[in-house]
Amino acid sequence: MNEEQRKQQSQIKQVNPSGEKDNLDRLKQKTSDDFIKYFETTYEAPNLRKAQKRGKQEVKYHDDFAIDEQFQGLGVGKKYLIRTYGCQMNEHDTEVMSGIFEEMGYEPTTEAKEADVILLNTCAIRENAENKVFGEIGHLKPLKVENPDLIIGVCGCMSQEEAVVNRILEKHHQVDLIFGTHNIHRLPQLVHNAHLSKERVIEVWSKEGDVIENLPKRRAGNIKAWVNIMYGCDKFCTYCIVPYTRGKERSRRPEDIIQEVRHLAAQGYKEVTLLGQNVNAYGKDLDIEYGLGDLMDEIRKIDIPRVRFTTSHPRDFDDRLIEVLAKGGNLMPYIHLPVQSGNSQVLKLMGRKYTRERFLELVGKIKEAIPHASFSTDIIVGFPNETEEQFEDTLSLYDEVGFEGAYTFIFSPRDGTPAAKFDDKISMEEKKERLQRLNAKVNAYSAEAMKQYEGQIVNVLVEGESKNNPDVLAGYTEYSKLVNFRAPRSAIGKIVPVKVTEAKTWSLNGEMVEETAEVK
Ligand code: 5AD
Ligand code: SF4
Repeated sequence: MNEEQRKQQSQIKQVNPSGEKDNLDRLKQKTSDDFIKYFETTYEAPNLRKAQKRGKQEVKYHDDFAIDEQFQGLGVGKKYLIRTYGCQMNEHDTEVMSGIFEEMGYEPTTEAKEADVILLNTCAIRENAENKVFGEIGHLKPLKVENPDLIIGVCGCMSQEEAVVNRILEKHHQVDLIFGTHNIHRLPQLVHNAHLSKERVIEVWSKEGDVIENLPKRRAGNIKAWVNIMYGCDKFCTYCIVPYTRGKERSRRPEDIIQEVRHLAAQGYKEVTLLGQNVNAYGKDLDIEYGLGDLMDEIRKIDIPRVRFTTSHPRDFDDRLIEVLAKGGNLMPYIHLPVQSGNSQVLKLMGRKYTRERFLELVGKIKEAIPHASFSTDIIVGFPNETEEQFEDTLSLYDEVGFEGAYTFIFSPRDGTPAAKFDDKISMEEKKERLQRLNAKVNAYSAEAMKQYEGQIVNVLVEGESKNNPDVLAGYTEYSKLVNFRAPRSAIGKIVPVKVTEAKTWSLNGEMVEETAEVK
């Protein structure tokens, strides 16, 4: 719809308020038997037994992605908006979908009112993530009523869950399009169908996607970039929905990854983060002997100042990787190593396949090889029937490792996962109280880590203006510490030395200095 039509539409709405009811009725009719049939043939609910048996078939690589001629230009004069929830993988998927939209001629907008297509790229990891999305779907309803041509789509991890799709079908008639994490490359066709048809369009493949190279991307910035190295997860931790929503582990070919990083370096990017749900399993599905350590050993030779990777699984973190990380250079010494719990019995119930002792051994090995390395982690409190003593093991492990940061969560039962069926006698009140105690520790360690920088000079990759004050610039150190400091805007996009004047709990304040001597 163009501007003129939109204006007319809103005028019509003002003089004809009953139009709203007509639109709602039309939306309700969209739950037709036809597409429910379609949905049933293309979609399967998460199923542990089936999912764990998967993975025998070979992954196919496709290098020939192209937007079909008939969809090119479909978006000319139209705008798209993608709201992203959840992890970096989703943020990067949004960059790919943005790239596809823009190749179709769509322009981005941040205003929902201006958009012709709104996609919610969703996260299923915890219940509160899902609640946020349902809240947003509700907020979008008046827009759809006002403008029936608006397309509202739900994609990402939630769309891989049967219960979610059913709830949308039954209750949220404003949603026109639902597609899964393996269907992103089908976006042109799907949006086209949604534009044309008066039916809802649903395409959720439960079959793991192949690896599709050369998808267009519109990266969110020109300083730091995400690079997928693998998709999916085969770990099946008992609490986690990811192996169902993201499918089996599929590694990209090393040459494709290396070429992408080289290209980013040539474009002037200063930092890449290699992405995967379980990056340490990289290469296990390739028919060559090649792992994350080998890949990092190649990538460290590329002329890009900073290389990070996330997320690691302690179980697969091998000696080869440690040996390569110890070579330093552009490989950043700040390692995100989710532990989840400090108690071996809980770890066993979580299906993590390592013990507290093995985890500490690994941390010791890394520290020995890279004495200046430091760590952040993820922790779940209130796993079903976690006792006070078991929780205290998590607190003491935190002390032993001396993590500098942590993402902490209360266990959230996810439909279809084994832990959701575990009987649980621990009250939510108690879980919240534990989370508070853990967070107090996390804050104290972060503050202590920050304090050691006072008076020191740190190298900061300057990303832009500080969120709260446009006169102040902000960026991150090698150890991912946020630094706010005064400097000319010409520093943006560069790595500059900054003298730290004040340490806060989660950030540092400082002043840019000229010389790089004694950089911490
Ligand atoms: N409940 C709470 N936290 C979870 N995580 C994953 N699944 C759940 C769940 N069901 C956490 C883990 C993981 C991080 C991304 O989210 O700590 O590392
Ligand atoms: Fe989920 Fe990570 Fe475990 Fe995979 S390794 S199942 S993504 S917590």
